[in-house]
Amino acid sequence: MPELIRIADVAQYDGQEICIQGWLYNKRSSGKLHFLQVRDGSATIQCVVFNGEVEEATFEAAGSLTQESSIEIVGTVREDARSPLGYEVGVVDIVVLQEAAPYPITPKEHGTAFLMDHRHLWLRSSRQHTIMRIRSTIIKAARDYFDDNDFVLVDAPIFTPNACEGTTTLFETEYFGDRAYLTQSGQLYAEAAAMAFGKVYCFGPTFRAEKSKTRRHLTEFWMIEPEVAYMDLDGDMELAEDFICSIVERVLEKHRDDLESLERDVTALERIQKPFPRVSYSEAVERLKELGVEHEWGKDFGGDEETVLAESFDRPVIVHRYPSEIKAFYMKADPEAPKQALCMDVLAPEGYGEIIGGGQREDDLDVLERKIAEHELSDEAFSWYLDLRRYGSVPHAGFGLGIERTVAWLCGLPHVRETIPFPRMLQRLSP
Ligand code: 4AD
Ligand code: MG
Repeated sequence: MPELIRIADVAQYDGQEICIQGWLYNKRSSGKLHFLQVRDGSATIQCVVFNGEVEEATFEAAGSLTQESSIEIVGTVREDARSPLGYEVGVVDIVVLQEAAPYPITPKEHGTAFLMDHRHLWLRSSRQHTIMRIRSTIIKAARDYFDDNDFVLVDAPIFTPNACEGTTTLFETEYFGDRAYLTQSGQLYAEAAAMAFGKVYCFGPTFRAEKSKTRRHLTEFWMIEPEVAYMDLDGDMELAEDFICSIVERVLEKHRDDLESLERDVTALERIQKPFPRVSYSEAVERLKELGVEHEWGKDFGGDEETVLAESFDRPVIVHRYPSEIKAFYMKADPEAPKQALCMDVLAPEGYGEIIGGGQREDDLDVLERKIAEHELSDEAFSWYLDLRRYGSVPHAGFGLGIERTVAWLCGLPHVRETIPFPRMLQRLSP
């Protein structure tokens, strides 16, 4: 039996007989030839079955192979200038493991709802395959950034007794006769960990019962959240921009061809360099007015305002010091402008919206107790969190980056539903 190889490694086997284990992606025939597009997860390659080179039965079998049948191919690697890989395979033998039933996703166009219903199969399509590999790189780059900069990974729980980001988007579940919520953010636990380890991050799925259907909202999404003791808002903004630049750099380094296959404008990503512009919320309101959008001071920005604002910059813009009223209970007020919080959002360019939210945390016990009461949150559920202000409280800050919005931005996708293997949204719980 010849050596089993990954299609992606084919260049190392020029002229040799090899074996591939994969699936039939597509097929066309002309007279004495069958051209099989075979994918194995690593790449797709054309395998040519020539009537004169294989047994009659093998040639017949190749001609009747159905899309997505699982097959093992033995053949010889040869150069082919027209192939994206630079090679094709001259088939010697084919073993059919399973003849696939008629495959629902044919090479013709399908509607989004149909594709989403078949997400478990749609993942095999080349575009989805490309997006998921870029997602994998983004996650690796994000983790590498923190791992390489002395952060300790501390996992936050998913069942929690308290809300982090407001009570309106909590998913509730029964917990042995008690009530539990699915976590909205690991932040509060990351704060506890920062007091133990200094620089930490958590990374995991987070949940929000988002009742609106938008192209930026999922009910289950992945967030990576650093938290640093003795860091202030300025340090937080610097960390965020350095972090984003390192992710963009990695994606450009590894996926230039993939981005081009997605028709992503790569030059827009090449402009993502430090420093990012910073504007305060108040300046942003002024700027919006100049751009013809009336926005009442004190109200939160929606997707439309974010898009207009971001469009006037060629790289992500950091908006800081939003009104405290519209922000979470844990945010520290700006001593110089007490109605505003020491917080920041990073808005991606080209209308992709907020990708990071974070800021400096309230570190004073009395103020925090008052805020918890004002937000009508339970004292009991937060008593552990208040301990962090009782025992060695220090200024500290952090942020959360949403993986899916980052994937949408970097891949240039109009909707977050294609950025995660199995999206969960208002009207989607399956497959
Ligand atoms: O701005 P958010 O709500 O911030 C927090 O949760 C903080 N506790 C994080 C922290 O400081 N440690 O969410 C952070 C990011 C957003 O900028 C966005 O990228 C993403 O999480 N996000 C969502 N992504 C997809 N679907 C949703 N429903 C999202 N909600 C937030
Ligand atoms: Mg936010």
